[in-house]
Amino acid sequence: MRLTVIGTGYLGATHAACMAELGHEVLGVDVDADKVAALRAGRVPFHEPGLAELIERHTASGRLRFTTDYAEAGAFGDVHFVCVGTPQRADCAGADLTYVDAAFAAIAAHTRPGALLVGKSTVPVGTAGRLARSHEAEVAWNPEFLREGFAVADTLRPDRLVFGVESERAETVLRAVYAPVLAAGTPLVTAGFATAELVKTAANAFLATKISFINAMAEVCEAAGGDVGTLAEALGHDDRIGPKFLRSGVGFGGGCLPKDIRAFAHRAGELGVSLEFLREVDAINMRRRDRVVELARELCGGSLAGTRVTVLGAAFKPDSDDIRDSPALDVADRLRLAGADVTVYDPAAMDNARKAFPRLGYAVCVEEALRGAGLVLHLTEWPQFREIDPEQAAAWVDRPRIVDGRGVLDADRWTAAGWQLRAPGRPAPREEG
Ligand code: UGA
Repeated sequence: MRLTVIGTGYLGATHAACMAELGHEVLGVDVDADKVAALRAGRVPFHEPGLAELIERHTASGRLRFTTDYAEAGAFGDVHFVCVGTPQRADCAGADLTYVDAAFAAIAAHTRPGALLVGKSTVPVGTAGRLARSHEAEVAWNPEFLREGFAVADTLRPDRLVFGVESERAETVLRAVYAPVLAAGTPLVTAGFATAELVKTAANAFLATKISFINAMAEVCEAAGGDVGTLAEALGHDDRIGPKFLRSGVGFGGGCLPKDIRAFAHRAGELGVSLEFLREVDAINMRRRDRVVELARELCGGSLAGTRVTVLGAAFKPDSDDIRDSPALDVADRLRLAGADVTVYDPAAMDNARKAFPRLGYAVCVEEALRGAGLVLHLTEWPQFREIDPEQAAAWVDRPRIVDGRGVLDADRWTAAGWQLRAPGRPAPREEG
């Protein structure tokens, strides 16, 4: 089939490359000429394992092309996926639909009769219906559940497909697009527009709630002398609960969960439904950042002023260079504001971090970051950081003190190597000597 994919950010670039991988001819469309030029040259403007290879392979074979021209897109094919962003509005009141509305209007002006416009962006419930009423072309909604860092695998082998359709024809078209994925046994849920839109926002709200639940338990553990790591392990053995998204620490960030729960609570309010608990989910999450700063201060005897602090991690999660609403950088900047001299190291997100937080210091490797540090904070769970040898690291730093904001370092090993280690929700390990 000949498909267009409008928007070539994380979602769009991945979707376009994966549709080509499934055997379709794909035209990616973006208003940003620089992005299009980079993609045409097979360059991916962000870090996503496996994506550059796919884009390179399919641009070379001619199965994947990119353009800035909507007229070309309208003439190219009759199935148009809209994958543009829905950021948080500047007034924090819900999602900003400017890009979605503009993309639908731009492609609708050039479609041929019988075209299907398929929304993939995360939108407030009611958006698909509104767009269907305002454009002649048929609309469908096909939410995306990919995780950054696993975007290619999640698109080629998703755990489910959701089609929000209002005609048999739209369902037939989408079934044809995803034929190889469906043939592999992927479950398909078909629904009306409202349910399809809600699946996405509800899924992200649930994941955020699960993380904040365990982080609220961390607060209780801190007050009562419990250990949230052991608590989560025991809870996770109950297969009705499960161990995933039960990792307590500095909390969630990124371009999706934080903004999506805020937009969802706002939209529900407009519909007269109270999802106030999501505000608390958000508040618990933000309190975890405060707690990590507090632990840092405690380890430094009450004041961070003048302390040389190393922050390990800048991306909002490992295997990503995405720093949107990153807990690591938020905490790093708070430490700087508290008077610390902060140096950050991240395996992938340095360029983005430097641009967004020019006042922080940056190191080129773990060793350079750690040398001379008076305090270390581990804030993004890159495997490289877990592999640091605590004895070697102790020799590099000035004072062996560390806050494990992700709760994954082996506390006994670090303590045995002479470190003072604190982790949110966990009791302070007994120190050697
Ligand atoms: C999230 C969802 O997981 C995807 O299903 C969804 O498609 C995507 O948003 C989206 O809406 O586009 P993503 O933002 O890539 O994906 O990141 P997650 O893997 O969900 O992690 C989010 C944050 O939660 C990270 O900061 C991570 O460190 C944190 N987290 C995750 C925890 O603090 N604890 C956990 O147990 C799990």
